Amino acid sequence: MLVTRTLEELREALASLESSKGKDGGLVPTMGALHEGHGALMRVARLSKAWVAATIFVNPLQFNRPDDLARYPRREEEDFRLLQEHGVDLVFAPSPEVVFPQDWVAPDLDLNGLDLPWEGAFRPGHFKGVATVVSRLLDLIPCANLYMGLKDYQQCLVVERLLHLRKAMLGLPGPAMVQVPTVRDADGLALSSRNLLLTPDQLARAKGIARTGPG
Ligand code: PAF
Repeated sequence: MLVTRTLEELREALASLESSKGKDGGLVPTMGALHEGHGALMRVARLSKAWVAATIFVNPLQFNRPDDLARYPRREEEDFRLLQEHGVDLVFAPSPEVVFPQDWVAPDLDLNGLDLPWEGAFRPGHFKGVATVVSRLLDLIPCANLYMGLKDYQQCLVVERLLHLRKAMLGLPGPAMVQVPTVRDADGLALSSRNLLLTPDQLARAKGIARTGPG
């Protein structure tokens, strides 16, 4: 597995992958703290594409609270192990300065209001931040398929809109989005990196909601 952190390393690794395996690649964007939900994305990608790239980047633009960004789980060594086990060819694990250098200009993305209701109402700016980073990652890692988990359904809608905008703006076919079903634990709770942040009591309540619904 090629591990890259800078744009130069990424460009070199992509060139070497494309020369050995062609252009038929898949991208699995993540914020790390990987679990079997990510594993499902990687498995589907592995089965359908000549090469698979994954990104590990805790994107500051999608956090509306600094304390939430600071405590987001980070465990890169375990993540690299899981990526390797799933046969990922390339990982891009950059710092924020690499993804958003000073002279970088954010694209003006009209998300058609999809970013505003539901989760968007509680996390202002969150989905704009997601769309911005996914757009940036697609600029850096051109691919045929983009793999997203249905657990984050609103995110899938926003990224679908982003792909439509990119197609219209760039006149390029762009990647196809592949939506992968939610993976749950034995109690029915959807796997999520944020489950690591729950206290035992909160975890029990989350499993209760998964069993019975919010009521
Ligand atoms: O779902 C996530 O982990 C993130 O929102 C994503 C798509 C990697 C963008 O930072």
